[in-house]
Amino acid sequence: MAESLETKILDYTLGQEASLGQMTGKTIFVMNGEAGKGLKSLSEKNVLKVYQTHKTAYDALREDKIMAHYDMRGDFIPDSHDVIMVCLSKNKQENLFHIGFGLFLLKKGGTILCYGRNDFGVTSYQKVLKEVGMGELNTAVKYKSRAFWAEKTDTLDATLLSKWIGYGTFNRIADTQLEAIPGLFSADKIDKGSVLLCEHLPKNLDKMGADFGCGYGFLSYYILSQGIANNIVCIDNDHKAVDCARQNLNVFIDGERVITFQWLDLVRDMLPKASISWAVMNPPFHDDKEENHALGQAFIKNASQALKKGGTLYMVANAHLPYEKILAANFSKVEKLVEKEGFKVFAATV
Ligand SMILES: C[S@@+](CC[C@H](N)C(=O)[O-])C[C@H]1O[C@@H](n2cnc3c(N)ncnc32)[C@H](O)[C@@H]1O
Repeated sequence: MAESLETKILDYTLGQEASLGQMTGKTIFVMNGEAGKGLKSLSEKNVLKVYQTHKTAYDALREDKIMAHYDMRGDFIPDSHDVIMVCLSKNKQENLFHIGFGLFLLKKGGTILCYGRNDFGVTSYQKVLKEVGMGELNTAVKYKSRAFWAEKTDTLDATLLSKWIGYGTFNRIADTQLEAIPGLFSADKIDKGSVLLCEHLPKNLDKMGADFGCGYGFLSYYILSQGIANNIVCIDNDHKAVDCARQNLNVFIDGERVITFQWLDLVRDMLPKASISWAVMNPPFHDDKEENHALGQAFIKNASQALKKGGTLYMVANAHLPYEKILAANFSKVEKLVEKEGFKVFAATV
């Protein structure tokens, strides 16, 4: 996997700053960290753990023999770590949760090191550390990215910290029965495209189906609540999404229905061939920053080989996305059910 800017700036900072790069015998917790030379080398001389909820990034850490966690449940002890590192993403509330929870875990006098890309607003988090009461910041700047670090003071703003820690938990989405964790797709309100797809689903979907990139489970919630289907496997590569979907769909779990959850990277991990009778998806079309059509195209290919003969994929996409060719190449019949308000919905049968 190509090295991310975040990994580059971290490795650069650890190489420049001996007090960080040459640490030994410390307890280090890394929020959202990715595999790389710097973390590997620190993990050999310290007790280093990483919180990482994305499946492929998690697997890469494990391959590097770095201890990785995909959830924050368990016995995390306040003031227990010498060093916290936070790899900043583009989601503000997620970052505030990582910083807030990191400071909760950090010993007094311990160091918090944050790092990220300029185009994700890394500089604004320097103000965030000041705002909560952290002391003087050191900085390193390279690769259109920045790292900054400071020692934990004993005058942190507890109210602000609890607010940030709250961003790591389930929040009710207004006017729905659903909950989401900040940072997940459409965490504040249901996506219009997903609603349009629901409006064009058949009244009955028989046998086992799959919700590709289930997020917090909106499509499956609709399908189960309308009695359209009873058997669904919900799949996402973000463990937070899988957790949320499980939380939202728990209400349907009884002796009649089979609802299961899988943490998989659907670009990399092919579902078993001819194993499902239908599929629904509102596929991702962004990686970190840029539009990436390959993601949706890989989802479509994965679904086409996982569907049994005669099985149908129901999908919605933004109207400008180029999915027609890949649908035509992998399905025997493709029908556009509707195009409106910037979205298009397809039914594609194997
Ligand atoms: C556009 S959102 C749709 C979420 C949900 N189905 C809905 O309609 O609200 C796409 C989802 O795909 C997930 N995703 C992105 N890349 C993935 C991958 N490689 N494998 C599995 N899921 C992925 C994202 O985490 C996100 O939840």
